[in-house]
Amino acid sequence: MAKVDKLCIQGGNPLHGRVAVSGSKNAALALMAASILAEEPVTLRNVPRIGDVYTMIELLQELGAPAQFVERTTVVIDPRNILTLEAPYDLVRRMRASFNVLGPLLARFGFARVPVPGGCDIGARPVNFHIDGLRRLGADLHSEHGVYTAEARRLRGANIYMDFQSAGATQHLMTAACLADGVTVIENCATEPEIVNLANFLNSLGAKVEGAGTTTITVTGVDRLHGGEFTIIPDRLEAGTFAVAAGITQGEIVIENAVEDHMRPVVNKLREAGVQVTRVNGGLRVRGPQRPEPVEIKTNPHPAFPTDMQQPFAALLSIADGTSMITENVYESRFRYVNELNRMGADIRVSARTAVINGVPRLTGCPVAATDLRAAAALVCAGLAAEGTTELTGLDHLERGYEDLPGKLRQLGATVESCEQAMRKG
Ligand code: EPU
Repeated sequence: MAKVDKLCIQGGNPLHGRVAVSGSKNAALALMAASILAEEPVTLRNVPRIGDVYTMIELLQELGAPAQFVERTTVVIDPRNILTLEAPYDLVRRMRASFNVLGPLLARFGFARVPVPGGCDIGARPVNFHIDGLRRLGADLHSEHGVYTAEARRLRGANIYMDFQSAGATQHLMTAACLADGVTVIENCATEPEIVNLANFLNSLGAKVEGAGTTTITVTGVDRLHGGEFTIIPDRLEAGTFAVAAGITQGEIVIENAVEDHMRPVVNKLREAGVQVTRVNGGLRVRGPQRPEPVEIKTNPHPAFPTDMQQPFAALLSIADGTSMITENVYESRFRYVNELNRMGADIRVSARTAVINGVPRLTGCPVAATDLRAAAALVCAGLAAEGTTELTGLDHLERGYEDLPGKLRQLGATVESCEQAMRKG
C-alpha cells in the first residue's frame, strides 16, 4: 500500500454499519516478546497488522528468531536458534515495548544487552520498576552509554512489590520469572486484560503463573517452555475508539468482537455521556446522542478509566452540552493534542494534570498534526464530527497502533481518505 502523508476527513456523516476490532496491540507486543522464552515455535493468532507489530517482528528477526505473518492475522515465531542477545538501538528507540525482550533473553540465555528506551511525547516513561524487579530476581544489571547490560546465570524467585501498577513492568517481570528458580510473588501489579492474556499464553507454553488479573501474581519457575498456539484478545482501545467515533457523529454502529468486560470504565463513561451502549451477539451496539452530556474522568491503572482513552474522550466531550473535566494520573504530559483540538474550535484549558473542557456546539475542520497514537485517534474522531475538512498529519503514529483505521471508518460511511486521493477527485 502506498504511504499516506496526510489524511483528509470530511466531517458530518453519522457512522452506520458494522466494524470488526483487530487483535490487541498491547497484548500482541507482550506475547511476541515473551515468545523468546519458548524452545519451540509459537503461533499467534489474531495479531493486528500494525506498525508496532512489524517493528517487533523486525526485532525478533534481528535476534535470530524468524518471525512472520503466515496468514492475514497469524504470526509464527521460531525462537529455537536465537543468536544475538543484543537489541539494536534503532528498534528500541522506535518502540518502548521492545525493552521487554530484555527479561526473556536474560531468563533463557543468562545475558542481554538492551538500550534504555527514550522518553516520548506523553512523558518521561522511565524503566526503574523493570530494572528494580529484575535485580530482585538476581540479575546483575548496569547501564553504560545508554545501554543496559544484564547478566544472571539463572534468575531466582523473589518477592517484588511495585510502587505503581505498571503494565509493562508487570508483563516483563512475570515473563522473566517463568524460568527462575523457585517462586516469585509480584505485588501491586497491573491487572489489565492484556496481562491476563499474557499469563494464559505463558501457561499454555508450560509456565505456572497464577493470579493474573489481580494485584498479586505468583509465578512458579519451570525449566523450559515449549511451543504452542494462542489467540490474542480483541483490542479494547480500538473498540473504545470506534465507540467514541459513533458517539461523536450521532451514529449507530455494531463493534464486532468488542468485549464489554474489558471495557467497563469506558462503557460507563460513554453511558454517562448519553451514548447508548448495548451488548449484542458478538459485540457491542453503540448509538450516539444528539449532543453528549458533560462528564468527569480520572485516568488511573485498570480497572479505572484507561489513559489511552482520555484523548478520544476529550474529542467527544469537546462538543458536550456543558463543562467536563479530565484528570490524567498515569502520564505526566498527555495533553499535547489539546492545542490541535482547540484549533478545531474546541474550548479546552489545561492546568497541570487536569483539562477543563467547555463544550461547544460544533467543531470546524482545519489542518492538524498528531503527536502520539491516541492523539491521532482523537483528532480523527474530532474530524469525523467537524464541519468541513480536517487534514491530519503525523499519520505514522496512527499506523503504529490501529489497523487500517481509515479503511474501517470508510466501511462505516465516513469520508476519510488520503488528501492526494481527495484532490484527484476534485
Ligand atoms: N513508569 C515508571 N517506571 C517504570 C515503568 C513505568 O515510572 O519502570 C511510569 C510511566 O512513566 C507512566 C506510568 O508508570 O507514567 C505507567 O506506565 P506503564 O508501565 O503502565 O505503561 P507501559 O507499560 O509503558 C502500556 C501501554 C501504553 C499504555 C500504558 C498504561 C504497551 C505497549 N503500552 O505502556 O499504551 O498507555 O501501558 O496503560 O502495552 C498506547 O497504546 O497508546 C500506549 C501508550
